[in-house]
Amino acid sequence: MVDLTTQYASIQGEIDDAVLRCIRSGQYINGNEVLHFKEQLAEYLQINNVIPCGNATDALQIALMALALRPGDEVIVPAFTYIAPAEAVAAIGATPVVVDVDPDTFNLNPKLIENAITRHTKAIIAVHLFGQSADMEPLQNVASKYNIPIIEDNAQSFGAEYISHDRSRRKTGTMGTIGVTSFFPTKPLGCYGDGGALFTNDAELAERIRMTANHGQSEKYLHRLIGRNSRLDTLQAAVLSVKLKYLKQFTAARQKAADIYRRWLNVSDDCLALPYAAPYATHVYHQFTIQVKHGKRDALQSFLKARQIPSVVYYPLPVHRQEAYRNKIRIGSDLSVSEQLCLSALSLPMHTELEEEQQRYISEQIHSFFNNDDPS
Ligand SMILES: Cc1ncc(COP(=O)(O)O)c(C=O)c1O
Repeated sequence: MVDLTTQYASIQGEIDDAVLRCIRSGQYINGNEVLHFKEQLAEYLQINNVIPCGNATDALQIALMALALRPGDEVIVPAFTYIAPAEAVAAIGATPVVVDVDPDTFNLNPKLIENAITRHTKAIIAVHLFGQSADMEPLQNVASKYNIPIIEDNAQSFGAEYISHDRSRRKTGTMGTIGVTSFFPTKPLGCYGDGGALFTNDAELAERIRMTANHGQSEKYLHRLIGRNSRLDTLQAAVLSVKLKYLKQFTAARQKAADIYRRWLNVSDDCLALPYAAPYATHVYHQFTIQVKHGKRDALQSFLKARQIPSVVYYPLPVHRQEAYRNKIRIGSDLSVSEQLCLSALSLPMHTELEEEQQRYISEQIHSFFNNDDPS
């Protein structure tokens, strides 16, 4: 699905230098590289505060803790997404309120939010899924009407932009009260292990986030909040500083690969739907996720597997059908779109090193599946 070693080979000299410099410095925790990366990231995102941490799951939980959420509070999360948003909410004893997603973008459907809000609603987690921004303006309108903070989960869409009605552009992760991201290796900006970060323009909140991520300390051994221990390794920051310089190039490579799929995959709309590119967003194609119609998704996946073509079902179960969450959530809307996507969505190989020939082969096999050329 993803070729990280070829990408590494393309920038090996710089990465090796950065890693060696870090090892030789002896500063393995909160070293200069972390400070440098934080500044680079703030500049890139045009945001006042960047707080690096261990991973995006930590970042989500730290965001909720910094917003002082408590057991009994409710947080709206999408039903069709990775489990981390609901998990972070449940981990602090609050209740995930599961809301359906838009059938085209797979992101939280803004039209369903207002009905899901109660006096207990204390946050909305908007996930920017598969590389594309959620529709932030209508979400922000509802959120500000009820004075509810939005946490943007930008784990899958780092580098993407939201285009407002006045045509101004904002980077995903910088529009909500807090943004979080993941630097997991396969993510749009990935390191060589785990990593994450939080972003905010609110200085006071940034201080609470910093403390929460560092045992709730205001100064060493003075704990003003109950916190966590969640840090970005200096080594990972060194890797990320190099990779951030190449993000534009890597994003362009993914976008080009998506264009190539669109060119080759001209199968009838009745068989499959290609990813929808919303007019209000740029798409960084963390995934290239098609919808396979008429219940043929699993058969297509087996067919591709038999031809050594990897594909992944993101996600086979919506949040509300996960065993651990059965009695821990509230259903906030009809969830039929999420249910349907779990049966139809299939993600094809997508990475910065994908070659046109590989994509041609993948596309030909998909055509041949639908044309019944090879019924095996
Ligand atoms: C939408 C989303 N949020 C959060 C996470 C968690 O990221 P991490 O592995 O850095 O904790 C992921 C990881 O896949 C994700 O896809």
